Amino acid sequence: MTITLDFSDKTVVVIGGTSGINRGIAERFARAGARVAVASRSQDKVDDTVAALTAAGAEKAMGLAFDVRDPEAVAAGLAAIQAAFGAFDVLISGAAGNFPALAADMSVNAFKTVIDIDLMGTIHVMKAAYPFLRRPGASVINISAPQAFLPYEGQAHVCAAKAGVDMITRTLSLEWSPEGIRINSVVPGYIADTEGARRLAPTEKALEMVRRNIPQGRLGNTQDVANACLFLGSELASYVSGQVISVDGALYQRGSGQLGQMIGQMLRNPPRTDT
Ligand code: HXC
Ligand code: NAP
Repeated sequence: MTITLDFSDKTVVVIGGTSGINRGIAERFARAGARVAVASRSQDKVDDTVAALTAAGAEKAMGLAFDVRDPEAVAAGLAAIQAAFGAFDVLISGAAGNFPALAADMSVNAFKTVIDIDLMGTIHVMKAAYPFLRRPGASVINISAPQAFLPYEGQAHVCAAKAGVDMITRTLSLEWSPEGIRINSVVPGYIADTEGARRLAPTEKALEMVRRNIPQGRLGNTQDVANACLFLGSELASYVSGQVISVDGALYQRGSGQLGQMIGQMLRNPPRTDT
């Protein structure tokens, strides 16, 4: 079957789009012919990504360096993108930070850091982008995580932050639908060769446990997630809003299970590195 979605003359903005899953999403929209803008903290990662987007077939590509924790920098950055590329047809908000740490061992600032990046960063992006979203027709996609609804030991910060992200999605779908703006969350499962999966499953043994706990028997890849975003960004999804959509090989259906304990066990008994 051949499926082609054409995003030529569309503006797609990917916040946190310079590595891993979000970069895979940006590159997928570039291959579909969109004008693609990305942003993250590192100018080097931004420059590398813009070159890759151009090579992938983007109509135009641009990138900016800013931190989503700084609402004024986010507002200035999104205004610059709108000035260069016009109203946003698709906005993906996926900047995030994570590390394994038990709540009792984590400083207040460590917890707050993840809340500031994942949750406050999301609302900073939503508020700054709001005036620039195409009406009617814009599609907003927040990148969430299974931690939003599955409690994992060592992940209290991310669980709290991503649950909040999904409730922003649901609430704004009520507020923005009358203006013709759709908003959904996409929830990647464990995605191979990404920073997120490396941090939570740093050894082959841990990765094998993850694999065993995914009903489809494999980790996802960045294109699995990008394909869902392409659908949500397109007119095929014109009646889909306020949804939290997992792309996880049925991971969620197993519940927290062994994965809910795995990170806590690793933190209590770190793997030996001297053998
Ligand atoms: C305990 C830690 C810690 C750790 C940092 N901290 N790492 N505490 N264990 N491993 C504490 C620090 O001591 C400090 O607290 C506070 O957190 C802030 O740390 P900084 O290093 O100053 O923060 P910053 O430079 O802003 O970096 C943010 C970061 C970093 C989140 C800590 O790792 C980062 O930039 N991450 C971005 C990339 C990333 O995480 N990608 C994966 C996303 S995956 P004190 O008290 O000392 O000041 C994801 C979900 C994956 O989101 C789901 C998979 C299924
Ligand atoms: P990643 O490669 O570390 O990507 C994170 C992106 O966000 C990078 O572009 C990073 O670039 C940017 N970023 C981080 N902090 C930022 C900040 N404060 N301000 C601006 N940009 C910032 O991680 P990933 O594993 O691919 O995860 C991507 C998304 O998928 C995240 O939302 C994550 O929660 C979600 N997710 C991942 C998995 C997984 O298996 N990997 C599973 C579920 C959900 P800079 O370093 O340049 O800032």
